[in-house]
Amino acid sequence: MTVAVYPGSFDPITKGHLDIVERAAQIFNEVIVAVAINPNKKPLFTMDERVEMIRMASSHIPNVRVESFSGLLVDFTRKQGAQAIVRGLRAVSDFEVEFQMALMNKRLYPEAETVFMATHTDYAFLSSSMVKEVASFGGEVSDYLPPAVLKKMAEKFGDTVWGKASAR
Ligand code: PNS
Repeated sequence: MTVAVYPGSFDPITKGHLDIVERAAQIFNEVIVAVAINPNKKPLFTMDERVEMIRMASSHIPNVRVESFSGLLVDFTRKQGAQAIVRGLRAVSDFEVEFQMALMNKRLYPEAETVFMATHTDYAFLSSSMVKEVASFGGEVSDYLPPAVLKKMAEKFGDTVWGKASAR
């Protein structure tokens, strides 16, 4: 039984994240999407909202579980009995920090392997923070978010997030 943890802030989950979840779920028996509680970050969505949005967006994938965690990722990984930590890589700019995290996590918990997955080309430029910024200034973000997330974003930023195509 191969179990992978896919950790992140997911504030909110984007189609880029979801693509990684779907692909990881084809490789591992179980994928645990692990939403990090980070006391240093001020998220737009509460932990409950982020978990709920991921659950809705990934409800079509049977071998995915969504959890939150605080503290070290490796401790959560160990407790879950997972062998792998999945991270998505977009551009070269992601690599340095991801490589650093992977090496530190390996030192802390050698039993787990970090597995990098290249982003889908459609989402190579995408980030949660960019989507939030565009939405906050009235831009359309409907191409980048799963429907359940888009609905939540509309509640925060208004109907402009849907774009003109679906004038609601
Ligand atoms: O989506 P993000 O913000 O890039 O995710 C970063 C995350 C949550 C994976 C990372 O900050 C993390 O693992 N946090 C938990 C605390 C921890 O283990 N820190 C040491 C990492 S080397």
